[in-house]
Amino acid sequence: MSQLKELLVDQLQDLLHAETQLTQALPKMAEAAHHPELKKAFEKHLVQTEGHIERLRQVFEIVGEQAKPKPCKAMQGLVEEGQETIEEGTEKEPLAADLALIAAAQRVEHYEISAYGTARGLARQLGLPDGALLLSRTLGEEESADFLLTAISDPLIQQLTLNDLGANVNLESVDGEHDQKRVSAKPKKTARKTETSRV
Ligand SMILES: [Fe+2]
Repeated sequence: MSQLKELLVDQLQDLLHAETQLTQALPKMAEAAHHPELKKAFEKHLVQTEGHIERLRQVFEIVGEQAKPKPCKAMQGLVEEGQETIEEGTEKEPLAADLALIAAAQRVEHYEISAYGTARGLARQLGLPDGALLLSRTLGEEESADFLLTAISDPLIQQLTLNDLGANVNLESVDGEHDQKRVSAKPKKTARKTETSRV
């Protein structure tokens, strides 16, 4: 086997293990998520991830090698961190817990984006356009998942800022130095009652 092909097989084995671990982690992330859009995003990505595993098997076939996973220590660490985030989230406000989940999930996405980009480049170089196309499709879905998480987090960050501001305002307003308009700032419609009541 050429060194280049060996390198690609190594990347594919790492990815196969990484994706398989994710199929176990994502349902827990979905269960822990409070915001319905975030829950939906994790559930959607679980379905996509199952497709990613199927595509990886197809790429192994194209390469002419057995679809064998190789322990991906990086993903093991990321999944462990995700588990910690879920546990710590039970002590947090829903907004903060969701944002921490998004932070953990985006680390996973970026890891995968980097790995699929490398694997696709190797497949192209090896003259395997069908393999490169399959890897490209998955890469696109990982990027979309990352964009979606950013889109979900933006209003949550705004809301959390408003909540923090509300908390500060209440304390500071005792000495009357504070801008009252900020106190009455209305949260966005997506906010839950428990959060809005603190503003
Ligand atoms: Fe994936």
